[in-house]
Amino acid sequence: MNVLGIETSCDETGVAVYNSEKGLLSHMLHSQIALHTEYGGVVPELASRDHIRKLIPLIRQTLQQAKLNPNNIDGIAYTSGPGLVGALLTGASVAKSLAWAWNIPSIGIHHMEGHLLAPLLDTDPPEFPLVGLLISGGHTLLVDVEQMGVYKIIGESLDDAVGEAFDKTAMLLGLGYPGGPALEHLASSGSSITQKFPRPMTDRPGMNFSFSGLKTYARNTLISGLISHADVARAFQEAVADTLAIKCRRALSHTQYERLVVAGGVSANGVIRKKLEDLATLEQAKVFFPRLEFCADNGAMIALAGYHRLSAKQHEKLEIKAMPRWPLDTVKSI
Ligand code: KG4
Ligand code: ZN
Repeated sequence: MNVLGIETSCDETGVAVYNSEKGLLSHMLHSQIALHTEYGGVVPELASRDHIRKLIPLIRQTLQQAKLNPNNIDGIAYTSGPGLVGALLTGASVAKSLAWAWNIPSIGIHHMEGHLLAPLLDTDPPEFPLVGLLISGGHTLLVDVEQMGVYKIIGESLDDAVGEAFDKTAMLLGLGYPGGPALEHLASSGSSITQKFPRPMTDRPGMNFSFSGLKTYARNTLISGLISHADVARAFQEAVADTLAIKCRRALSHTQYERLVVAGGVSANGVIRKKLEDLATLEQAKVFFPRLEFCADNGAMIALAGYHRLSAKQHEKLEIKAMPRWPLDTVKSI
């Protein structure tokens, strides 16, 4: 079975083909970073228009790379939410039109389920149950994953998502968009002993997060002029990494699970990875990350999630469905 995956929820156009026996056959990505840089963030209308321009050529190239033609494709998976509505509609319209033209089933995938399942693209994939820590530009979720498709949210951010906090703090530091990787780079030349930032919401029980105060703390520290930009970046990143580790420790103890999956764009951060690896060792748990190229948005994770749902005989009618808001714990079980 060959499944075509399409991701267009935000600022990356991602396409991939996943094969039931051979795994990932091909994947391609077009990033819109250059398009949005001058605005310091994603401009939704520009994102939609760029997906329209790039998606069909990218599908053609991905099929060529996989040495397949349309009649080798058995099903189509696309991101149907959450995300920017115009961007989602582009992917949904193309997916449904192709499903109709090629007379094959199609299925809408929850973007965060895609992120969560991304480590399954690798050899030595995690088994279930597991704790999922999903950290991206729009979400910060701790998920009790009893099995694939059965998700219970046990912690989430009450304000900014982790990636959003990275991006806003990076902006304060005069770094470009997206700020996460640039902040990590700057932090590597900072010193860790100058000032300790708070670890928000760790002084009380629970697994929720709050990151907007940390961003304000970074701003006030910067204005005080007492420590360098690099030190602010390092102190901010360490505070985030520590906070995530403290909450993951609680989640492992709450669920009694022995596996932790960390995914989403921010899971590419080396300091966060190291902190969570150390935590897993301490807790005698095993931690799984997607390979670096599949931390951020991509079509491969959507093709893989689509394969699991389509092979469980799930598919949808030809209506075009985009859900800008869609809680992860309301998806169908597989
Ligand atoms: O998952 P993703 O590609 O898109 C969303 O679904 O939001 O995540 C993008 C987020 C951005 O906020 C970006 O700054 C952040 O992931 N990010 C990072 C790093 N790489 C990407 N944050 C911290 N450190 C990184 N190395
Ligand atoms: Zn994402």
